[in-house]
Amino acid sequence: MANLEGKVAMVAGGGGIGGATARRLAAAGATVVIGDLDAANAAAIAADIEARGGRALGVGCDIADEASVKALVETTVNRHGGLDLMHVNAADLGIILRDSNVVDVAIEVFDRTIAVNLRGHLLCTRHAIPQMLRRGGGALVYTTSSAAFMGEPERPCYAMAKAGLTALMRHVASRWGKQGIRANAVAPGLVLTGPRAGAGPSKENTQMIEEMQERVLAITRSTRLGTPEDIAAMVAMLLSDDGAWINGQVISVDGGVTMR
Ligand SMILES: NC(=O)c1ccc[n+]([C@@H]2O[C@H](COP(=O)([O-])OP(=O)(O)OC[C@H]3O[C@@H](n4cnc5c(N)ncnc54)[C@H](O)[C@@H]3O)[C@@H](O)[C@H]2O)c1
Repeated sequence: MANLEGKVAMVAGGGGIGGATARRLAAAGATVVIGDLDAANAAAIAADIEARGGRALGVGCDIADEASVKALVETTVNRHGGLDLMHVNAADLGIILRDSNVVDVAIEVFDRTIAVNLRGHLLCTRHAIPQMLRRGGGALVYTTSSAAFMGEPERPCYAMAKAGLTALMRHVASRWGKQGIRANAVAPGLVLTGPRAGAGPSKENTQMIEEMQERVLAITRSTRLGTPEDIAAMVAMLLSDDGAWINGQVISVDGGVTMR
């Protein structure tokens, strides 16, 4: 397992995949700060990490709000002396249910999707980079999605935001690579994380989710769908020195659904 002893890591968006990443980074020795709109869940993940002997703090943060992002980075630096690693992972996933197609979609669905899933990632990046430079370098991983490059008949706003993350990530890798900062993106396939906020446990939703899982499993070359731990393992590797020469890449972790 990657060794992150002495490193300070931030996870922006600590739900299913972000929660698994926080646990994985802490198990590798990092001190982890989790920021999430759902402050209670972030605190619960941190408490679980601490109960297992790790070091973690979970706080409320809205990545769509620059003051909130600035406060999260300041809290991290004030408490732990700096910031080395960041997993920018938050996304508004409830709104995907209304993300139909570019003719019909309500423009506020586009605006909200971009505000969180793209602009929010830019905000996290711009507040983290100066802190990483103070430490002589750092590493960032963004969570994108195969939706960014598959070309799907629905959820265009989600796909556009995720595609934009590639440009953001490659800009960071190019602009600050020589100063010791690496940036990469992980593109998960379908990862089972439990019920989504906003998706609701209705019969229609349950049936829709089950049908989607069957469809994706059929085109997955591996034997199963993904787990949050599958993604966390890649994020931890990319953030560690094991990924020291990986920079500016989008890495699919999807059981071979996509082959690029
Ligand atoms: N699960 C999948 O199948 C899958 C596939 C591809 C990509 N992804 C991406 O993985 C990432 C994590 O998704 P997940 O599946 O773990 O879902 P999740 O809902 O468990 O996690 C998303 C987290 O982001 C938080 N969040 C939402 N808006 C926020 C905001 N404005 N500020 C701060 N936090 C906010 C939510 O509270 C939640 O904890 C997302 O970027 C998602 O697009 C997931």
